[in-house]
Amino acid sequence: MTHRLFLVFIAALLTACGSQPRLPELAGEAYQLPYGGPIRSMYWGALKSDPNWFVVEMQSKLFYVYGQAVKPSVQSAYLLENTIINPGEDVWDLGTGTGIQAIFAASKARHIVATDIGPDAIKSAEFNVKLHGLQDKIDVRMGDLFAPLKDGEQFDVVINNIEYPENNEDSPLWSVHQRFFEGVGKVLKLGGRILYQSGSIDNMPRIRKLVYDNGYYIVEAHLRHMVVQDKDIVFYLIQRRGA
Ligand SMILES: C[S@@+](CC[C@H](N)C(=O)[O-])C[C@H]1O[C@@H](n2cnc3c(N)ncnc32)[C@H](O)[C@@H]1O
Repeated sequence: MTHRLFLVFIAALLTACGSQPRLPELAGEAYQLPYGGPIRSMYWGALKSDPNWFVVEMQSKLFYVYGQAVKPSVQSAYLLENTIINPGEDVWDLGTGTGIQAIFAASKARHIVATDIGPDAIKSAEFNVKLHGLQDKIDVRMGDLFAPLKDGEQFDVVINNIEYPENNEDSPLWSVHQRFFEGVGKVLKLGGRILYQSGSIDNMPRIRKLVYDNGYYIVEAHLRHMVVQDKDIVFYLIQRRGA
């Protein structure tokens, strides 16, 4: 059995052992990430058997994070807290990282495409999708923004949690978000919506401009102050004007 298959086996066993999964043996101390919302505890740590893999527990689900892939964070939790998927919807999880948003969305969605530009993220997402037995529902693909999508593919919901500029100043990240809003209309079904996590109060004016300049509007914006991090994070529900 390869090392990777062994990890999947162990993790699946732990997940099957009850609704509160026991963490596998960690190289260091596990700790709880301070999150002020209702999403239950998150514990982090590198695996003792292979420190290239981290494990995170969120809402009683385990997520494995390989190498440089982005670990689920308080922003991930806030996005989860605000995400509503209706039964039978088609979802695109852009910037999937460990696949966490896609995996939680899978309880309601008909089908999910989970994409990311990073090879370690893709490795982690594929691992976690298999771990949670969702290979038939979640299609993991690698590439920049729209590149991994098939011709004519459209979604009811686009979840976007790619990195964002922290403030209103110039940053190359703005051009990624600009390209997203310029192109997303082609892949959004009529009446579709964007769940957008761009966690900083400082960049709200620029995001509002980006949204409105590209023919969308902000239906809802939710903000939470993270006391420990002394940071305000923001979730947006966005729709096309006139949709
Ligand atoms: C902040 S992480 C979010 C991960 C996950 N969705 C979550 O909620 O924890 C952002 C992810 O977006 C990916 N990303 C950044 N730029 C991208 C791009 N242009 N196209 C696709 N994915 C991108 C990164 O590799 C990273 O995995």
